[in-house]
Amino acid sequence: MEQLVKQQLDDYKKLIEQKLDEYLPVQYPEKIWESMRYSVLAGGKRLRPILCLEACRVISGSYENAISAACAIEMLHSQSLIHDDLPCMDNDDYRRGKLTNHKVFGESTAVLAGDALLSFAPQVIIQKTDKRTDPGILLRVLEEFVVNAGAEKLIAGQVVDIDSEGKQIDKDTLNYIHENKTGALFKLSLRTGAILGGADEQKLEALTQYAEKLGLAFQIMDDILDVTSTLEELGKTPGKDVQEGKVTYVSFYGVEESKKQLSSLCKEACDILEKSDIKSAVLSYITNSIKERVN
Ligand code: IPE
Ligand code: IPE
Ligand code: MG
Ligand code: MG
Ligand code: MG
Repeated sequence: MEQLVKQQLDDYKKLIEQKLDEYLPVQYPEKIWESMRYSVLAGGKRLRPILCLEACRVISGSYENAISAACAIEMLHSQSLIHDDLPCMDNDDYRRGKLTNHKVFGESTAVLAGDALLSFAPQVIIQKTDKRTDPGILLRVLEEFVVNAGAEKLIAGQVVDIDSEGKQIDKDTLNYIHENKTGALFKLSLRTGAILGGADEQKLEALTQYAEKLGLAFQIMDDILDVTSTLEELGKTPGKDVQEGKVTYVSFYGVEESKKQLSSLCKEACDILEKSDIKSAVLSYITNSIKERVN
């Protein structure tokens, strides 16, 4: 079973890599496309597009119709990383085992590459999704995209994250940061796949609740890895959260308590799938692997 799941994950990843490459041809002015491609094609776990494809497959039996939206979400994720790493944000030199975008292309190009990816992503959804897709469904997918990418979700989380540096914040604010800066893209991924698969409201709601648990668990593990991992393993500089005075699950609860909460969230996430009769070995595997991940 585990072998089959790993094969499926590998197949998803290959397809995503191939399509991302295809959707981002170098054109004039080459510099911006090269900068966009540098970050998008730098590797990465491709977790969000995989979640999108698997949500579509578990609902409809096929994932083909979700591939352009899945890639668009990975472009949005890459954009958030390029901007997150800028000197005015988290000031990071390494990402995905390579120098950060601004270190290679300069800050102005890195800002523009992020902007470009953010607007190119919905363009990909509009232009590359199967033309037979119901226009109402396409509009819902686009709405999910712009809302989660924007000032009500991802940006909101990033603003409060940056604003909270060096401050004492309460538990609710910490959760607000994590739910928005990270959870929003997990919700976007699973909901987009489910909507394109034609999910009914009950299944959509279940996958949304699952995404909330998974997204929070994922960011807690990111906070833990920042204090326990190495540059080689992580592909980004560890110890940055302490250096920047970030409020994280680790700074708030300590490593051991964070691990406990992480385990509970993964269990709750699995329970949601089971209760809603969503049978996906891939989603179960991903959920159970979060606490074992090393990068
Ligand atoms: C990094 O996300 C940003 C966080 C939300 C913690 P990932 O850990 O999924 O990064 P990649 O895509 O694999 O590089
Ligand atoms: C990730 O938060 C959130 C976004 C990039 C939107 P972090 O700042 O913790 O991510 P890493 O640790 O730099 O990957
Ligand atoms: Mg950050
Ligand atoms: Mg960061
Ligand atoms: Mg982090």
